[in-house]
Amino acid sequence: MFEGKTILITGGTGSLGTALTKRLLSTNVSKIRIFSRDEWKQTNMKSKFADKRLRFLIGDIRDKDRLYRAMENVDIVFHAAALKHVPVAEYNPFEFVKTNVSGAQNVIDACLDAKVELAVAIGTDKAVSPSTTYGATKLLMERLFLTANFYKGERKTRFICVRYGNVLGSRGSILPIFVENIIANKKIPITDSSMTRFNITMRQAIDLIFRAVKNGKGGEIFVPKLKAFTVKDMKNAVMELVDKKVETIQIPVRVGEKYHEVLISKHEIRNTYESKDDYIVYNFGGEGLDEKRTIPFKKTKLADEYSSDMTELFTKDELKTIITKEKLLEEIIHQSKSGKN
Ligand SMILES: NC(=O)c1ccc[n+]([C@@H]2O[C@H](COP(=O)([O-])OP(=O)(O)OC[C@H]3O[C@@H](n4cnc5c(N)ncnc54)[C@H](OP(=O)(O)O)[C@@H]3O)[C@@H](O)[C@H]2O)c1
Repeated sequence: MFEGKTILITGGTGSLGTALTKRLLSTNVSKIRIFSRDEWKQTNMKSKFADKRLRFLIGDIRDKDRLYRAMENVDIVFHAAALKHVPVAEYNPFEFVKTNVSGAQNVIDACLDAKVELAVAIGTDKAVSPSTTYGATKLLMERLFLTANFYKGERKTRFICVRYGNVLGSRGSILPIFVENIIANKKIPITDSSMTRFNITMRQAIDLIFRAVKNGKGGEIFVPKLKAFTVKDMKNAVMELVDKKVETIQIPVRVGEKYHEVLISKHEIRNTYESKDDYIVYNFGGEGLDEKRTIPFKKTKLADEYSSDMTELFTKDELKTIITKEKLLEEIIHQSKSGKN
């Protein structure tokens, strides 16, 4: 799939970008260009990987000229760069528009003009019926990527998206918050312990991206079929793993916080198909132009929105197994000591 390919990852130094780079380097990829702003993150990543196939380019996706230069002779683009802190977006909304929306359009324009064959953008559940500024900017990013397939003319670029929720253990998600509070003997802040969340590990997120590369023809959003967990089970799993019990403290609902996570909206269901591992949401042309396209998947059996309260739940013990297998406690403690959480 990646043999001899030159790949560019916007946001390549982030948590997804780093994990994706690691997986791609285990294939026979030709070159990987990492595109991001901060020189220190790039320097650390360079010394961590020490692989001659990696190239590091300082650049901002808001800067179209720089993107055009970075994209010369690139075959595949993974677009992961984004501003993503929900509360920060509420105080700096237009900065999010500049990076997540205008930046995405710059990536698209550069892909088209550089004749990139495939561009995959990383979306989020927060873009589904968005209740926050961050979610709204990511919804626009998805729309820009999908609709680029309509006006690309004779150009060959296929634009596709993947969509998933918080990666287990990622910065700002509930696992590091629980682990850090329990270790520090502090009360765990919880809005409501019966809330549910889909469970996705970094390994599963990259598997999803690879399936999208393999199966995407352009205009699809790939959404993984996942199990979910309740906040209560996650809290108890972490307390047992750390072997410490602390009290919880109830906190008010945070901005845009949803009771259950939704990965496919009710309105998208009529355009949703499924494979063994994924739901595939199609973005058909407004005129119904390409509704006749051949779709290699069967129509979904989902009758309503795809939400974390309607899927199978992991038990507390299964959560403990996942956290242990993925070595997430060790990673979170390490990140916390180095001030990265
Ligand atoms: N983390 C999750 O749980 C999750 C869940 C669903 C979807 N996503 C999506 O997945 C993508 C990657 O997330 P992540 O967790 O890897 O984020 P992350 O760790 O915060 O990394 C973001 C990356 O983007 C770069 N970046 C930010 N602004 C940029 C700009 N203007 N120009 C160029 N590079 C820029 C950052 O580097 P510099 O700061 O050095 O530029 C960094 O490399 C995002 O699009 C996010 O919306 C994440």
